[in-house]
Amino acid sequence: MSDNASKNTTGHVWDEDLAELTNPLPNWWLWAFYITIIFSVVYWIIYPAWPMGKSFTKGMGNTITYVNNKGETKTTHWNMRAKLMKETNEAVAAQKPWFDKVAATPFEEISKNAELMQFVQSAGKTLFSENCAACHMAGGQGKLGLAPNLVDDSWIFGGTYEKIQETITIGRHGIMPPKGGSQINDEQIAQVANYVLSLSGEPHDAEAAKAGDAIFHGEGMCAACHGPDAKGIPEMGSANLTDKIWLWADVPGAPDQVAKVKAVSEVITNGLSRGKMPAWGGRLSPEQIKVLTVYVHDTLGGGK
Ligand code: HEC
Ligand code: HEC
Repeated sequence: MSDNASKNTTGHVWDEDLAELTNPLPNWWLWAFYITIIFSVVYWIIYPAWPMGKSFTKGMGNTITYVNNKGETKTTHWNMRAKLMKETNEAVAAQKPWFDKVAATPFEEISKNAELMQFVQSAGKTLFSENCAACHMAGGQGKLGLAPNLVDDSWIFGGTYEKIQETITIGRHGIMPPKGGSQINDEQIAQVANYVLSLSGEPHDAEAAKAGDAIFHGEGMCAACHGPDAKGIPEMGSANLTDKIWLWADVPGAPDQVAKVKAVSEVITNGLSRGKMPAWGGRLSPEQIKVLTVYVHDTLGGGK
């Protein structure tokens, strides 16, 4: 016989000597249990809790008043969504004096005001990551075939405050017709592609480039949009073809001369209309656009 017999047991024995004791629960445990029950009842009374048909108990805690996205003031029972809305309202209200100050200050003075620039950096960063980073990447460095780099000092549509503000407000859509709208044949396209590559010191066939020069400034009609110096015309958003910056023709990714000529020839043959910068005028407030303008011009850098 085991010594279990001397204790309070339920009388069940397993494996000859395993018995179930009937000791009372420890008091600390019991009280913790009662407290959780009391807590849950208090919680049911204060907060939304039980489903009731198609509705639920709303709780008797404080109501929350907030302004929704449509500008309507709403008062409702306590809930996480309303709480978040209220906190957002407060954050927006706290930022409003700053946005107003930016709106009332000329661009050049904003950039010299350390306090305002601090606001531009943090608010601009949030606005940029929410609205722009999907295409221009988080740091604004852009991506070939998607959206231009906003960090460098090369600008397709102009890099002054006013031009950047205009770009963001009304959007941009640079269009190049196939073959620039001309009737040049495949051989001429290859020649003018060699000329374009020669402008930025890329590997090219010198003889073909010479013929391409004549086409560029003649029947290819390229100079009409890209300018006689091929540096691009900001009003048209035509690319500067003399720098090492490429947005659509994947010249940097092409391993050799043949592939580079092919990459440029493809753009010339097919033309371009992929590059579409959306207009933010209806979606962001003028103050938000102004903050973004200064953010792009001064914080990302490269503004003119
Ligand atoms: C859907 C993708 C997309 C989004 C989102 C987008 N952009 Fe753009 N952005 C473009 C493209 C594409 C271009 C180039 C258009 C072209 O070359 O025709 C461009 C051009 C620009 C330019 C002109 C660059 C230059 O060299 O002149 C600026 C400035 C700019 N974007 C800022 C912004 C800002 C600020 C936002 C956020 C509010 C934003 N973009 C959101 C795609 C986008
Ligand atoms: C009607 C105006 C127009 C004509 C004509 C034109 N282009 Fe363009 N071209 C553009 C525009 C606008 C862009 C930029 C499109 C964008 O960014 O969305 C561009 C872009 C390019 C690019 C791409 C640059 C890059 O960064 O990847 C090349 C290469 C190019 N053009 C070469 C030519 C050549 C060669 C000709 C003559 C056969 C020509 N273009 C004629 C307007 C024109």
